[in-house]
Amino acid sequence: MKKTISIAIDGPSGAGKSSLAKRCAAVFGLQYVDTGAIYRTVALAAIRAGFRSADPEEVSAFLRTIEVSIQYDSEGMQHMFLGDEDVTGQIRSPEVSVRASDLSSFPVVREYLMDMQRDLAKSHSVIMDGRDIGTVVLPNADLKIFLTASVEERAKRRMLELQAKGETVSFDEVVKSISYRDRQDSERAAAPLKKADDAIELDTSSLNFDESFAALSQLILDRFYVENGEG
Ligand code: DC
Repeated sequence: MKKTISIAIDGPSGAGKSSLAKRCAAVFGLQYVDTGAIYRTVALAAIRAGFRSADPEEVSAFLRTIEVSIQYDSEGMQHMFLGDEDVTGQIRSPEVSVRASDLSSFPVVREYLMDMQRDLAKSHSVIMDGRDIGTVVLPNADLKIFLTASVEERAKRRMLELQAKGETVSFDEVVKSISYRDRQDSERAAAPLKKADDAIELDTSSLNFDESFAALSQLILDRFYVENGEG
């Protein structure tokens, strides 16, 4: 049997990738890797530095001035660092979301973050979520899931999350922001969001969290426990 296993979960913003992947990681004893957080950390660095250039050479030079790293605490929680500073709590703002989507369209940014993602999958059994995990980062992942839900359903879920945090935004604003990122993440030339040919599509539009988790768990059980006769 292989020493490590890898599960790739790709899909658009707000499809529930991270909460589902986190739960699966806990249940199946895998390391959860949130690759969006890595792009967000670069975005935070750019915002802080007031860096706005869209010139690839300048983006490349900017990347040489920052130091992004990832660490896992004893509970398996992922922490993002800029230099020595733990910035995990600062990368979730709407401003960082949009900047991360913008910056992720630069091949030089994707290249800069590639080894970090691949190295994690070499050293750990992972469930890794993002946009290009099954297509580019881990093309040989043992199981690939493409998680989707309608824009309206994703916006509804995001609204509830924001309301729980005490933030007030209109439904239209949330739909607009999700649609902007969908378009940008899917239409960029470099590693666009798309389903890998060998990925299994799971549409959670009409499923609640527990039902989505049950569906995803079943796919994991079928792949790793039934096929290998380990059930
Ligand atoms: O998953 P997220 O919303 O935290 O990701 C933020 C942005 O980072 C997303 O809009 C696109 C980019 N991203 C990417 O291009 N590739 C990944 N593997 C993960 C995220």
